[in-house]
Amino acid sequence: MQVFDVVVIGGGPGGYVAAIRSAQLGLSTACIDETTGKDGKLSLGGTCLNVGCIPSKALLDSSENFEKLHDLKVHGISVEGVKLDVAQMIARKDQIVSKLTGGISMLFKKNGITALHARGTLLRREGETWVVKAGDAEIGAKNVILATGSSPRHLPFAAVDNRKIMDNVGALDMPAVPERLGVIGAGVIGLELGSVWRRLGSHVTVLEAMPDFLAAADEAVAKEAKRQFKLQGLDIHLGVNIESVDASGEGVTIRYQEGGEAKTLDVDKLIVSVGRVPNTGGLGAETVGLELDARGFIKADHFRTNLPGVWAVGDVIGGAMLAHKAEDEGVAVAEIIAGQAGHVNYETIPWVIYTSPEIAWVGETEQALKARGVEYRAGRFPFAANGRALGHNDSRGFIKVLADAKSDRILGVHMIGPNVSEILAEAVTVMEFGGSSEDLARTMHAHPTLSEVLKEAALAVEKRAIHA
Ligand code: FAD
Ligand code: NAI
Repeated sequence: MQVFDVVVIGGGPGGYVAAIRSAQLGLSTACIDETTGKDGKLSLGGTCLNVGCIPSKALLDSSENFEKLHDLKVHGISVEGVKLDVAQMIARKDQIVSKLTGGISMLFKKNGITALHARGTLLRREGETWVVKAGDAEIGAKNVILATGSSPRHLPFAAVDNRKIMDNVGALDMPAVPERLGVIGAGVIGLELGSVWRRLGSHVTVLEAMPDFLAAADEAVAKEAKRQFKLQGLDIHLGVNIESVDASGEGVTIRYQEGGEAKTLDVDKLIVSVGRVPNTGGLGAETVGLELDARGFIKADHFRTNLPGVWAVGDVIGGAMLAHKAEDEGVAVAEIIAGQAGHVNYETIPWVIYTSPEIAWVGETEQALKARGVEYRAGRFPFAANGRALGHNDSRGFIKVLADAKSDRILGVHMIGPNVSEILAEAVTVMEFGGSSEDLARTMHAHPTLSEVLKEAALAVEKRAIHA
């Protein structure tokens, strides 16, 4: 039996990054993943590359281009005879996916990592070595990293066939634009994929159980987002209770309660995006005594599970279900295994929702600071007063900087507006260095750029924004 220093189960952002970092640190490494791509071969990259971050952003860009064509008149450009080729749009998305998943296979080769296309299961411990089943083969591991990720949570009364009732997999692969599209869950996937198909012409109705819209975001940002999405024609219903979903006819009929009233929604297709569940089935958790929490996530303390030599990272240990969080955990766990001080700063996780306008934040929201009784100062600046945003013909939204009232240390930065997914990185870096609003305010920003809105918001903390 071949024995590796590290065997990673799961080749998503947590797993493949852990494998590469392990190899960089001189550890012999194998990575087992069971994903089969559209070409029938191993497709590394996990949810993120195959059916998550990357394909959704590809379709968001395609659909944004399509929608922008209607705004070109203001630039003095008129476009006629616009046609939509959904098959080409999906093919472009697939090409991007296969380019990136193939890229990870190449990185594995470059780093001498053994890739195994199989399901990985923990079998038993023999002395200091774990025996891991990879399909029909058995391999040995001094350390096992579990990075098996997550899968869409399904509702018991809405069987997903990825044809009429879809999770993220089907919603990223629709062959045509449905006339009426229903979405259950106004979370990140519901808003991003709902936006894609709305821009392409669907009438999109979103049904959300919670009474508050985007409760995790800063309240002012969530309020502005809801207003903008409504203007775009996204039909969002909050505080609903779904009672039944019937797909036996031509389309799908959803019966639900809203404000004590029984309502019915008829759509052609339905996306169910109500969160994700950890992938632990098939891992051998029960046989080897791997501890899970009440919601099925692997219990881990600094990535250490209850089993010696078995580590876990990414979606499967819970917390923020984000690719970059999984990646940073992958780096940290490899460094810890190699005897270094691997560390992840959970205080500065960037959050981005790739709608239009984009939503992005880092750190605490204003409502969270109030609830904790923290004394803070807030500075806010609108994109409407920014020359570059006006040039772009997109001056929606604002940036808000929250800083500690005494130390001026930045506690949170909240953004809604054009390209804020890119501007956010600056705020994350300043927070990572424990920076103050004055640090940001005194940093020179290129003119004209959208990033000047962040500088002005920092200046506004001391009520000295120049252009307001
Ligand atoms: P995963 O990416 O889920 O990878 C786990 C891998 O392990 C999978 O390939 C799985 O098949 C494999 N596996 C599981 N069990 C076994 C086993 N027993 N044997 C072998 N292989 C196994 N996050 C962002 O940060 N930004 C985004 O823009 C973003 N967009 C998203 C859009 C959508 C539609 C979705 C669904 C998710 C999105 N996410 C985004 C979330 C992101 O995809 C996840 O947080 C990330 O992929 C988690 O990485 P991971 O390595 O923990 O798990
Ligand atoms: P989510 O947790 O973001 O949203 C799920 C929504 O569904 C919540 O608002 C919830 O209240 C609602 N809901 C739950 N049960 C319901 C019910 N029975 N009826 C109506 N509404 C119900 O989960 P989502 O959108 O499925 O995304 C999964 C994960 O993927 C997220 O946690 C996110 O971290 C990640 N992701 C990240 C992206 C990004 O970073 N841009 C993009 C897409 C996904």
